[in-house]
Amino acid sequence: MSDTAELIIEGKSYPLPVKVGTENEKAIDISSLRAKSGYVTLDSGYKNTGATTSAITFLDGEDGILHYRGYPIEQLAEKSNFLEVSYLLIYGELPTETQLKSFSDQISQHSQLPAGLEKILAGFPTTAHPMGILSALVSSLTAFYPESVEPNQTEEQIELNIIRLIAQIATLSTWVYNHGKGQPLNQPQEGLDYYTNFLHMMFSAPGQAYEVNPVVVDALNKLLILHADHEQNCSTSTVRLVGSSHASLYSSISAGINALWGPLHGGANQEVIEMLEAIKADGGNSQKWLEKAKDKNDPFRLMGFGHRVYKNFDPRAKIIKAACDNILNNLGVKDQALTIAKELEQAALQDPYFVERKLYPNVDFYSGIIYKAIGLPSQMFTVMFAMGRMPGWIAQWKELRLNKEPIGRPRQIYIGKTKRDYSPVADRA
Ligand code: CMC
Repeated sequence: MSDTAELIIEGKSYPLPVKVGTENEKAIDISSLRAKSGYVTLDSGYKNTGATTSAITFLDGEDGILHYRGYPIEQLAEKSNFLEVSYLLIYGELPTETQLKSFSDQISQHSQLPAGLEKILAGFPTTAHPMGILSALVSSLTAFYPESVEPNQTEEQIELNIIRLIAQIATLSTWVYNHGKGQPLNQPQEGLDYYTNFLHMMFSAPGQAYEVNPVVVDALNKLLILHADHEQNCSTSTVRLVGSSHASLYSSISAGINALWGPLHGGANQEVIEMLEAIKADGGNSQKWLEKAKDKNDPFRLMGFGHRVYKNFDPRAKIIKAACDNILNNLGVKDQALTIAKELEQAALQDPYFVERKLYPNVDFYSGIIYKAIGLPSQMFTVMFAMGRMPGWIAQWKELRLNKEPIGRPRQIYIGKTKRDYSPVADRA
């Protein structure tokens, strides 16, 4: 295969280097095009633009393949655990037993939030959306760990802030939840594993310790692993773009949390359950809602359906659907939302509108049903996504820094007014 592509503009030929990845993905490197020809490329929504080279996650949307550092998501979801996967994403290799123990111990030691943060949290109305509070609190960590804003901090300082984030996102998530409920905030307990600590902080009430159910732990583990990274999606690209200005890890991740919140991205998991509940309240007529989703005059979309890159199936959705059946059976929960979700999926998969556009259930379609079965309210679903995505965001931020990538700064094609002269307000008609 040629390692050069040729672009002809106005009769003139411009050779452009071709870059091939380890999984044979091909790209034309246009970084020198403007300097040579005066042209930029235009790609709204970056539908066909590779923003970086990366060694973290491989995704093939046509064949429904997802690998973290080369390991298939199916194997990791079945056999691994979230901390091991976090280590893999951040440091590039699966940890040895000693490395994993040291990583887990450090996380346990740093899970306490800094003194003073509780007061900031107390200032938020209890009705505030948890994602807004979460992003603000993550950003506020720069105040407690000021060395993190130094662009030239040492490797050790960066590592410490990475450990803090993995540890403290669990504590923060549970505090945001309990603040919303007007309940006391539980402190992390050293010596408890990540999930037990998280579930204890989330659900233990005064005088009533939460009894950890292995079925819940297993479901939580799978969900966090499946959300842990997804290459250059909207929130990860946000983290990398903000990080490219040498903003701190906390600021970059806080920006990623805000990007994730949107209903077209991670916020879809909340929208899905609310949609399923609305269909239930409306009599459970899935076909009626499917027709709404197809109607171009109706802004409604089938939430949890469709994906920018997956065009056959989302491998994460397949695993989550099975986990959903499993957890509901094990917990003895009967949820009509699951029946409606399955009916919607069946109907959509046979409907020419969805088939032609290659729209399939995505990771968010069934995840909310699991979170609900665990006892979480819908506003917390995207917080759980953020907690799962944390190691991926961190790994991507770290890679950007290690590769000394330049500041991100897209071009545009200006379509506004051409130059005109200012007139004083009195002269304007
Ligand atoms: N319901 C109805 N129609 C849809 C849907 C949907 N969920 N998704 C896409 N379409 C239609 C869309 O109207 C368009 O039709 P047409 O060609 O006639 O104009 C066509 O399918 C292509 O859609 P698009 O919006 O151009 O595709 P995109 O790649 O820009 O958007 C998406 C991808 C995920 C934003 C979109 O499918 C969507 O809005 N889905 C619902 C929200 C959702 O579930 N988001 C979670 C994504 S997975 C979690 C994560 O973010 O990681």
